[in-house]
Amino acid sequence: MKVSVIGAGNVGASCAEYIALNRMAAEVVILDIKPNFAEGKATDLMQTATLNGFNTRITGSTNDYKATAGSDVVVITSGIPRKPGMTREELIGINAGIVKDVTSNILQHSPHAIIIVVSNPMDTMTYLALKSSGLPKNRIIGMGGILDSARFKFYLAQALQVPASDIQGMVIGGHGDTTMIPLHRLATYSGVPVSQFANADVIQNVVSSTMVGGATLTSMLGTSAWYAPGAAVAALVNSILHDQKKIFPCCVALHGEYNQQDICLGVPVVIGKNGWEQICNVNLNADEQALFNKSADAVRAMNQVLIDMKTIA
Ligand code: NAI
Ligand code: 2OP
Repeated sequence: MKVSVIGAGNVGASCAEYIALNRMAAEVVILDIKPNFAEGKATDLMQTATLNGFNTRITGSTNDYKATAGSDVVVITSGIPRKPGMTREELIGINAGIVKDVTSNILQHSPHAIIIVVSNPMDTMTYLALKSSGLPKNRIIGMGGILDSARFKFYLAQALQVPASDIQGMVIGGHGDTTMIPLHRLATYSGVPVSQFANADVIQNVVSSTMVGGATLTSMLGTSAWYAPGAAVAALVNSILHDQKKIFPCCVALHGEYNQQDICLGVPVVIGKNGWEQICNVNLNADEQALFNKSADAVRAMNQVLIDMKTIA
C-alpha cells in the first residue's frame, strides 16, 4: 500500500511518522514545494526505522508528483496558516490555489487515490477538492471531526477524572471555533451518559474548551498543533487501507443528509477501502439540528468566496 502526503510541514511529517510507526503502509512519499525539505524530513524519519523497528519506506520529493504515482491514499496538508492582519478571504484565496493545483497534480499520477483534505479552512478546501476534481464524492474526505472529537474526549476525561479511552463522544459540523458541535447529549463514559457524572456547567465548559481547542494550542505553541492532527489523519488512513469500517466524524458531501445540500460538512461516516462508504444518522434533536444548520450557513458563506473568486463555478 502506498500513501503520499503533500506538504512536509508539521502535520504532514507527523502523519507520515504515525503511519510508519504503526506499520500501516509499505511506502510513504512526502512531497513539498520547498526545495529539499521533504527529502530532509523523509531521511530524518528513515533514520528512526532501526530504532522504532518499522519497515515502511519513506521518501521525499521536491514537487515532483511522479514520485507519488500509484498512491492508494493522498493526504493534502499543504497550505499556509492564517497570519496576523490577513483576512479569511485572503487565506482562502492562497490555500484554494494550492489545494486546487495539488488535487489536479495528484490525480494525474494517482487517478484512483482516495484524497484526505487537511488544509484550512478545511470544510471549504474539501468542497473545493470535490468540485474541482469531479471525483466521486466517496473519494474526498475532510479531516477535522476526528481531531475535534479526540479533543472533546480528552476534556471530558479530564473533567470526569477518568481514562480518555473509556469516553465515547463525537464532534460534528464545521471544523471551526464557532462551527463545530460537540454532541454532549450523546457522549458516554463506557456507555453511561456523561450527564450522570458531571453537571451542566461542567459539560458546557468541556464543550467551550473543545471548540477553542485548536486556538488554545496555537497560542501555546506559536503555530497550530501537529501530533493529534497527524494521529487523526493516520487513523483515517489505516481504516481506508485496511478496510476497517471504522466510524469517524469526517467532512463529506451532503445531498439531503442532515437536511443539507451541496456542502461538505462533518458527520459520522463509515470509513473503508472505498473512502467514506456510508453516512450514519445520529438523530439530532431540534437544538442540535439548529446548530448544524447554523454551522452549514457559516461554511456555505466561506464556500461562496470560492465562487466569487471564480476558483470554482
Ligand atoms: P506547515 O506550515 O508546517 O506545513 C505546510 C507545508 O506545506 C509547508 O512545508 C509548505 O512548504 C508546504 N506547501 C505550501 N504550498 C505547497 C504546495 N503548493 N505544494 C506542496 N507543498 C506546499 O503547516 P502545518 O502545521 O503542517 O499545517 C498544514 C495545514 O493543515 C494548514 O493549513 C493548517 O491550518 C491545517 N491544519 C488542519 C487541521 C485539521 O484538523 N483539518 C489540523 C492542523 C492543521
Ligand atoms: C487545529 O484544529 C488549526 O485546524 C487546526 O489544530
